[in-house]
Amino acid sequence: MTLKLKALKNNPFKTKADILILGVWNEKKPRVAYNVKGQLAALLTEEMEDAGFKGSEGEILVCGSAGTVFAKKIFLIGLGEVKNFGAETMRRTGALSAKNLKMKKASSAIYVLPEVSKNYQTTQVAAAFAEGAYLGNYKFSKYKSEENKKQTREQEILVAVKSVANLKQIETSISRARLRADATCYARDLVNEPASICVPKHLAEHALEIAKESKGKVSVKVFNREECKKRGMGAFLSVAAGAGEEPYFIHLSYKPKGAKKKIALVGKGITFDSGGLQIKPGESMATMKLDMAGAAAVLGVFSKIVEISPKVEVHGIIAATENMPGPGAYKPGDIFRAMNGKTIEIGHTDAEGRVTLADSLSYAARLKPEAIIDLATLTGACMVALGEEVGGLMSNNGLLAEKLKEAAAQSGEKIWELPLIREYHHLIRGAHADVKNSSGSRYGGAITAGLFLEEFVNNIPWAHLDIAGPAWAERDTNPYMPLGGTGFGVRMLINFLI
Ligand code: BES
Ligand code: ZN
Ligand code: ZN
Repeated sequence: MTLKLKALKNNPFKTKADILILGVWNEKKPRVAYNVKGQLAALLTEEMEDAGFKGSEGEILVCGSAGTVFAKKIFLIGLGEVKNFGAETMRRTGALSAKNLKMKKASSAIYVLPEVSKNYQTTQVAAAFAEGAYLGNYKFSKYKSEENKKQTREQEILVAVKSVANLKQIETSISRARLRADATCYARDLVNEPASICVPKHLAEHALEIAKESKGKVSVKVFNREECKKRGMGAFLSVAAGAGEEPYFIHLSYKPKGAKKKIALVGKGITFDSGGLQIKPGESMATMKLDMAGAAAVLGVFSKIVEISPKVEVHGIIAATENMPGPGAYKPGDIFRAMNGKTIEIGHTDAEGRVTLADSLSYAARLKPEAIIDLATLTGACMVALGEEVGGLMSNNGLLAEKLKEAAAQSGEKIWELPLIREYHHLIRGAHADVKNSSGSRYGGAITAGLFLEEFVNNIPWAHLDIAGPAWAERDTNPYMPLGGTGFGVRMLINFLI
């Protein structure tokens, strides 16, 4: 199903469409979020009263238009209370609109943007609606036989704005929302792809394809095992030793003319995490194809980076491997040397992400960027601390952390900062090596993982996002985040870069 959003300059009530969608505020008496008059107002009041419709957020009422407008049907979508209104309301409304359009097999709809307080610009409201619509329209259905037989239908939502003056700006915000959503869905597809297909080579092929499509604006280097060995990536290769699939180290770069800053994005790229020799129990392993969600987010950003065209140089770095207990697998007590020269003692083979990241971060630091941001489905402990919806933020630089928080607040992706305190440093000290990948303590696991990573960034401003929780949606509760990979991080990174 392909969905397209456009701005509408004509009168929404006098434009033909299958469906007209209007928002409704939840007040003592539900109030349509647009100045409706005459017969239309009377019809809607009657319909809402008959159905006991309150306008609570996400509530939907469908009624015939009875000739009051040119559209055949009218959808009322509850916006909740005015005081709770925000971009999130609009993202959810967008998703619900797209989903209902699909359910009703309609091909066109008009969405009348609600009239909101001056705190919100029309462009912002339109962008959030569009982002939600595109994200909510996503489905990973390539392996659903029946759905694949169906023909793809074109669907269109016209976003009606009151003042025609800013039509161009609205069009621009809608198309930028589309870029953010497409980049997110690119990441979702990669995460949802089964681990037997999405092997390290598959990620490398995606990177090569992105570079090829970019007409020279994105370049890529892919190192195989031999080349990684030459570069001293002993940490990364130790995790790869037990895997049947070949590991690949991927480095994407985007260097626009006149760029004054350099940012490195690093993604954890474990295409399947069995736990290694200290193998995970069955239930914990069930969703471990998600363990490359950090890498997927980096690839997602790069999939649209030319169109997003940030004015900074951006590097994307992924050490891709499986974590498997095959012959040659690394063992507890083993010691390896990372690219920056530090030695790592293996305390636990299931704490593999930080071992691969040791080399990714060392590599990133050598590029001497202004900032390094890594995204990693790193610890179950972060989920214990913050739950499934909130990512953990850790950083050695207050300003960078604040900038990321701002970018995340804008995208509605929830992150919360955890302290990288020196007091826990002893927990990552090795008995016989410089550092140890697991302390054995049950406490503070997200932070000790963060402290371990910090050893490899060479004091460059760096932020770590532990996305173990929000990278994956266990169920369909949020209308714009269907069960499976969520593409968490992509939208905030884009906001951060532009
Ligand atoms: N990939 C996991 C973390 C994870 C858990 C991601 C659940 C998403 C959902 C990571 O490699 C891991 O296994 N971490 C261990 C570390 C421990 C052995 C120190 C964990 O969190 O239990
Ligand atoms: Zn693990
Ligand atoms: Zn892992």
